[in-house]
Amino acid sequence: MIKEKIFCGLDIGSQRIKVALIKTKKPSSVELLGVQEEPTRGFKKSSISDLHDLADSIHGALKGLMKTTGCRLKDIQLGIGGPLIECRYGKAAIPLVDKVSKVVTGTDLKKVNKQACLLGVKIEEEILHDFPQHYLVDDINRALNPLGLYGRKLSVTSLLVLANVNLVSNIAKAVNRAGFEVSNVFFTSYACAEVSLSKEARQKGCLLVDMGAETTGILFIKDGLLKQTDVIHLGGDHFTHRIAETLNIPFDLAEEIKISHAVVQGEVKQQEGEILIKKENGYKPVKRKVICSSIEPETEKLIAHIQNTLKLSRLSDKLQGGIVMAGGGALLPGLIEHVERAVAQPVRIGKLQIQAAAINNAAVFMPAIGLAYTGFGKSTDGFLPPAVAGGWFNNISSRITDLYEEYF
Ligand SMILES: Nc1ncnc2c1ncn2[C@@H]1O[C@H](COP(=O)(O)OP(=O)(O)OP(=O)(O)O)[C@@H](O)[C@H]1O
Ligand SMILES: [Mg+2]
Repeated sequence: MIKEKIFCGLDIGSQRIKVALIKTKKPSSVELLGVQEEPTRGFKKSSISDLHDLADSIHGALKGLMKTTGCRLKDIQLGIGGPLIECRYGKAAIPLVDKVSKVVTGTDLKKVNKQACLLGVKIEEEILHDFPQHYLVDDINRALNPLGLYGRKLSVTSLLVLANVNLVSNIAKAVNRAGFEVSNVFFTSYACAEVSLSKEARQKGCLLVDMGAETTGILFIKDGLLKQTDVIHLGGDHFTHRIAETLNIPFDLAEEIKISHAVVQGEVKQQEGEILIKKENGYKPVKRKVICSSIEPETEKLIAHIQNTLKLSRLSDKLQGGIVMAGGGALLPGLIEHVERAVAQPVRIGKLQIQAAAINNAAVFMPAIGLAYTGFGKSTDGFLPPAVAGGWFNNISSRITDLYEEYF
């Protein structure tokens, strides 16, 4: 009997730290136990500005989560955000046998994947993920999954997701100071894709737009694999800054106004009326239209970036699974509808793919939930590529098949 396990995801965003806890026995019975958030302190513009403050806010978020779920936590699955990530291709080839051809086994795949990682990583980098894009058997047969094919040489092209070793160590140090251990480190937006996109969409080809406070990660996923990433230095806080500038008010007040009253243009009806804004010398009426048109330039910038990514990568006709938005920035009313009209592709908000009681603003917590889920995935499949990964039973049976084919 498999024991029940819990996994906790930690997403250190530039505005808020989000944590999520899942309980799991097997992939089909993953359940969200709870989520928690806390304002981020000590982490600005993708750098640790104060280790003590960062540790303190991580501690606050995890303590809150333990209190609400009644679970004791020791270790967490840490996420590293888009601006701190580097993606590039790694290539490698291995001989299968000296003389005659042999069948490609799971062991060969692991060997060639490992080789691509070793050759593709620089000394100051750590590999968070490797996504084998395709294999070549004897330089002629291109396959996503070459298991069982005959050949003498096996090559792979992998997309490597990398982060700076020292940066990861420093964030891990803050987690340790908060009283917890880091079990695994993942790319936050990729983890978000794991729980916000259906298996079918990830197979067909879809774009995830993870819009945070300072940055937006754009990920193209097809055949269940990450194919391409892009990071835009534009997030929800840029919209807030526009409102603060236009109305000449502090950022925090502008943030409140954005969340309660801003709507992306096009939703004309909702832009009518006035609101009262607190200033030093009393309350001042402001037309909602003024608030809504102040964020227009940021909306247009976001759309131009998405359109550019689609154009440069020639992705428009490969998105059978559509475009999915997640992250707090995606919650701005009217944004999804506006992006959909502008890029002429179906756009929807990410829908949690695991069992969970309804949570408010689920899009904000999807990266943290995804980190917990990816930690669970790693505990069952190790570093096997999705084409071969398939749970402990499949792994054991494929290992037996490998040994048989290796020796007979
Ligand atoms: N209901 C809402 N309506 C509009 N915007 C919202 C809403 N809720 C959150 N936001 C915006 O979402 C952003 C925060 O989202 P999120 O928590 O995903 O960012 P983050 O992870 O801290 O940032 P980053 O990923 O850039 O490091 C803020 O800009 C906030 O104003
Ligand atoms: Mg974020």
